[in-house]
Amino acid sequence: MAKVNTSLNDERTIELVQRKGLLAGRYKWQILRLALARSLKMTTPPGEHYDFGTSDGKEYSLEQVCGEGKPDDENFTDLYRLLISNYHQQDLFADEEMFIRLLQRHIRRGLDEFRTSWRESHDFHEYLYQSLFSNLNTAKQQDRNAAPLPLLEMLEEIGVRGHIKETIDGSRLTRFMLHLPDANDLSKLKRNLDTLAFSLGLQEQGIFTHETNQPKVIGLDVPRPASSWHSQGFHEQSRWIEQGKSTTFLLPVYPGVDVLGKPYSFDLAKAPHLLVAGTTGSGKSVLLHALIASLVQSCTPAQLQIYLIDPKRVEFTAYKQLAHLAPEGLVTDAPAALKLLKELAGEMERREQVLADAGVRDLEEGLTKQVIQLPFIVVFVEELSALLMESQDTETYLVRLAQKARATGIHLVLATQRPDADTFSGLLRSNVPSRIALTVRTAAESRIILDETGAEKLTGRGDMLIRLVGGNVLRLHGVNINADDIAQLVKMTRK
Ligand SMILES: Nc1ncnc2c1ncn2[C@@H]1O[C@H](COP(=O)(O)OP(=O)(O)OP(=O)(O)O)[C@@H](O)[C@H]1O
Ligand SMILES: [Mg+2]
Repeated sequence: MAKVNTSLNDERTIELVQRKGLLAGRYKWQILRLALARSLKMTTPPGEHYDFGTSDGKEYSLEQVCGEGKPDDENFTDLYRLLISNYHQQDLFADEEMFIRLLQRHIRRGLDEFRTSWRESHDFHEYLYQSLFSNLNTAKQQDRNAAPLPLLEMLEEIGVRGHIKETIDGSRLTRFMLHLPDANDLSKLKRNLDTLAFSLGLQEQGIFTHETNQPKVIGLDVPRPASSWHSQGFHEQSRWIEQGKSTTFLLPVYPGVDVLGKPYSFDLAKAPHLLVAGTTGSGKSVLLHALIASLVQSCTPAQLQIYLIDPKRVEFTAYKQLAHLAPEGLVTDAPAALKLLKELAGEMERREQVLADAGVRDLEEGLTKQVIQLPFIVVFVEELSALLMESQDTETYLVRLAQKARATGIHLVLATQRPDADTFSGLLRSNVPSRIALTVRTAAESRIILDETGAEKLTGRGDMLIRLVGGNVLRLHGVNINADDIAQLVKMTRK
């Protein structure tokens, strides 16, 4: 008889929900039903990659999943069939095999959603309630087909006439391709984006414009309610890393996807130093975890050594056993951090000598010519301002590293809640040329980070604007890496 198959990852999620979601007395199949409900709330269909469970997963009978064969008041098979038929606009009463396949896809995607968007420190009931029922009354307005209408009305209110040529759903936003017959309306539109966002009830989230190559067409990126977001997690990131193995990047990192859902990567070695800034809860720590996860999956410990400076003492402790962590590489107080930065400055000078002796310009050349065998070093700082407050010397050493360490293969990733002139100014600012702004409080903070405004209007939770050295600003949605993923990552690398 037909069954619904899961993977080991799915089973872990189910157990986690039972254990940490206060559903201990519940059966596993009850969690599957919740996952089905979650997936049916999402606007795009689940992918075919859910078709096959894994041999270390489990099988669930239709009796468990739907109550098939049970008395009428416990048998939901036809109800589920109807809901899924409706979702896919397909008659599943006539196609049993397809019904079961789609049922499994939805259940497994729902579990993936739990895994990537629910944090075990948060109340599961509340999370589920929010993701199933919040925005219920605005859902109609945000419906993919219905949305252009109020948008056009609102545009008319600001004196802009146009029509929607196409709508494209990204993972958090919908891009409306707006044709403006009168090109003069463009500046009017740009001037009035805040009014438009207000009319659409977007609160502090903003509408971003996107230049296109079609004549008189501008893209409007309008955020959707959080319940319809698709999140990307560790699982997806691992897949991108696997697929990207052939790139020539020295230190490949995969922070997330672009607005239309395409994975984005860059070479941290070319950055060559990165500032990550955003208000509390904007997703800095999760982003640092995503960067660490990329590096660790792409490089061996012989190729890369990581240092973690965490004055808050909360975020990095899980990495203690990471194979790539340098000896004494986890530092949790400011005096020890200062000592470490001094040692790294010493290491930089030692490496400069090694490079000079080998007659090469930088570590990359030394590695290519196989005359040098040294690992790259990446230093992550969880809260820059906490470090700088400790001592003037900290800044001096950071600046020295930022100015010269690149050639020797030492790179900095500095995170801060406070992207103000005290924390990030002068020499540090001019020597850390790559920047990521998560949501910030003010337009002025956005300007300090990116030299332009916008980051104050992001949707939060890993939504970011990135500007790599010398490049344009690009919007990304970050992968969500949780505590389980980090534990798994560390386990994978342990010798
Ligand atoms: N990429 C993401 N996708 C989905 N949710 C996310 C993402 N990034 C962050 N979040 C959510 O936002 C919460 C806060 O993220 P995080 O702890 O990284 O913020 P932070 O900027 O480090 O905050 P703080 O400054 O207080 O340390 C997370 O617990 C998670 O629920
Ligand atoms: Mg944090």
